[in-house]
Amino acid sequence: MRVAVFGTRKYDRAYLSAANTSHQHELVFYEADMDSGTVPLAAKCDAVCVFVNDVLDATVLKELAALGIKLVALRCAGFNNVDLAAAASLGIDVVRVPAYSPHAVAEFSIGLLLALDRKIHRAWARTRENNFSLDGMVGRNLHGRVVGVIGTGRIGAIVARILQTGFGCRVLAADLTENPELKAAGVEYVSRETLLREAEIVTLHCPLTPDSRHLIDSTALDMARPGLLLINTSRGGLIDTIALIEALKSGKVGGVALDVYEQEGDLFFRDLSDEIVQDDIFQRLLTFPNVLVTGHQAFLTQEALAAIAQTTLANLSDAEAGRELTNRVTQEMVR
Ligand code: NAI
Repeated sequence: MRVAVFGTRKYDRAYLSAANTSHQHELVFYEADMDSGTVPLAAKCDAVCVFVNDVLDATVLKELAALGIKLVALRCAGFNNVDLAAAASLGIDVVRVPAYSPHAVAEFSIGLLLALDRKIHRAWARTRENNFSLDGMVGRNLHGRVVGVIGTGRIGAIVARILQTGFGCRVLAADLTENPELKAAGVEYVSRETLLREAEIVTLHCPLTPDSRHLIDSTALDMARPGLLLINTSRGGLIDTIALIEALKSGKVGGVALDVYEQEGDLFFRDLSDEIVQDDIFQRLLTFPNVLVTGHQAFLTQEALAAIAQTTLANLSDAEAGRELTNRVTQEMVR
């Protein structure tokens, strides 16, 4: 298959090229993200391969269909950026990498929590200037704290276990379905409201769907315990950022660590250090000393990149051979 690979960085090329030796697809790498303006780059290709912030709305999908594209291969798990109804009506199959390394994201989430709570990001900046004062650096033990995990699928379940068995936290969980193994390990399933009222720390691990959009809004933040620590490595749209900024200003929220941001498509995965960022909401977030932001890197481990590349190329090979698409994304998966 000839495949236009959008939004590629050095590590994408390296891992996809290595995995392709056993598949022999013709991969055409583009740094540009997929949007209406870059669709023509997919001309003379059979499929496109895209990532989390590539926009595949009805307009883009129609343009892709007009070029003869039959397959969209997402090299990620989330698929909130694809209009699945439009894809289905145009006869375009959508495949993804449902699980590559849930440990990569789970471990990073714990890393963010520790950095935020123990102010490691601030210590790093201070010691580089030979400032070894500990004023303002007082943290809290994780042991014995009440942590709420929203979404206990592949990633959330690992996070819950690390917190429960590793750190000795009391773990509350909220999900549409309960995981019996987690329950047996002592994790307590409660309603989302109870979780928000009782947890000192909340970490988000559910997909972005119409139901979960702005799951953390002003109502949720009003319910929360004062000083709440919030971790989000899932999707930016789960949090109403303006409400979050108000809660940070009032002190209701005690700290936030974000690997994802609602409007990250205009910012993340590129070097903007010489530019004036125009997103005032994002810039305001960065001014708080108790906000830690990373640029959607929770997935970025050697193991995850290798697994993403292998599954993506296997998905392409399945489509080319007319085999069943085991990693197909369907509209029924959006709850
Ligand atoms: P998963 O599909 O295994 O688990 C998601 C869980 O969320 C399921 O148990 C589901 O029932 C639950 N859920 C769905 N809607 C919910 C709602 N409204 N409230 C509470 N729970 C709900 O997904 P997985 O692999 O654990 O990934 C979770 C999310 O992490 C993905 O959707 C993706 O957005 C994000 N992610 C972020 C990465 C990063 O680099 N920052 C990398 C990979 C995934």
